[in-house]
Amino acid sequence: DTAPLIDPFARPITYLRVSVTDRCDFRCTYCMAEHMQFLPKADLLTLEELDRMCSAFVGLGVRKLRITGGEPLVRRGIMGFFRQMSRHLGNGLDELTLTTNGSQLSRFADELADCGVRRINVSLDTLDPDKFASITRWGRLPQVLKGIEAAKRAGMRIKINTVALKGFNEAELFDLVAWCEAEGHDLTFIEVMPMGDLGEEDRLDQYWPLSDLRARLAERFTLIDLAERTGGPARYVRLQETGQKIGFITPLTHNFCESCNRVRLTCTGELYMCLGQEDMADLRAPLRASEDDAPVRDAIRAAIARKPKGHDFDYSRQKVGGQMTRHMSHTGG
Ligand code: GTP
Ligand code: 5AD
Ligand code: SF4
Repeated sequence: DTAPLIDPFARPITYLRVSVTDRCDFRCTYCMAEHMQFLPKADLLTLEELDRMCSAFVGLGVRKLRITGGEPLVRRGIMGFFRQMSRHLGNGLDELTLTTNGSQLSRFADELADCGVRRINVSLDTLDPDKFASITRWGRLPQVLKGIEAAKRAGMRIKINTVALKGFNEAELFDLVAWCEAEGHDLTFIEVMPMGDLGEEDRLDQYWPLSDLRARLAERFTLIDLAERTGGPARYVRLQETGQKIGFITPLTHNFCESCNRVRLTCTGELYMCLGQEDMADLRAPLRASEDDAPVRDAIRAAIARKPKGHDFDYSRQKVGGQMTRHMSHTGG
């Protein structure tokens, strides 16, 4: 039972994103409500269960594991989990990585590097400390910058993820580009996705299409389209003048579903076949029902067999109440 996972649209599933906690020490306004109801700890998979689950996926041909959250580094004992996962590197797994807000990186960077993490994605929407505090609701920018420094010193490559927000970081576009070039970081812009029930927040007001951001970049730089992909949804350009690489993640203006290679596991053991669809499979029940992994593998195969063709994010639908109420932190982006 080791045949690779292939979905109904002939897409090989080789990338697993695992949300290890729905908690976070920040409350980014586009991601979470200020007062979030977090899951009871008893509902979470234990780290041992997460290990079993991820190992089953690696056994079924998953080559890339991205640990997400919430904020993955706030989960207690998470370094032990990274250490456990590192045993798969070179034994089926090509890449072990994480997406983090950077707040705990100064503590954990060396150990992550030691566990074989080579590349990390850090979310950072602004370089202005006041704006940073407002978008994260209370985050401290210097702490995050220190964390990024530590990761760089530990030898990891860093990709900065910036959510493009109209009226928020528009004016900082060139500062962000220049800072990443000076620090040697990759940079990816993300279109804000209509997820989560955030009460007062209206994502339509914040939506800054990357087609527009790209046009602004093109006023100052020559953009060369690159064919390469990193196994994620980003498309890349190179700025001819500086040589730096900029990524665009455009779920709204340019859908990348046709090349989708991933599924998402939540911290309670639900497998989501698509970020933008509600359908999921419970893997916790088969995992807990038996010490043998065969039922889990069967449940994984059955789930992959219903992976949908694509998502239906759509701002025109959002206007008439089509916004997904599941929070990004639940499925880890
Ligand atoms: P790499 O390409 O390996 O760097 O990873 P990545 O860009 O997939 O990962 P990251 O966690 O940095 O995700 C960046 C953004 O892409 C997040 O906002 C995710 O929500 C979004 N994203 C990742 N995968 C998908 C997907 O399948 N569909 C959609 N719509 N968005 C995605
Ligand atoms: N739309 C787009 N990106 C989002 N993220 C969180 N919520 C949203 C949203 N509604 C991003 C974070 C992080 C990544 C994991 O997901 O900024 O970079
Ligand atoms: Fe936390 Fe990331 Fe969500 Fe911000 S975007 S609240 S840092 S999980």
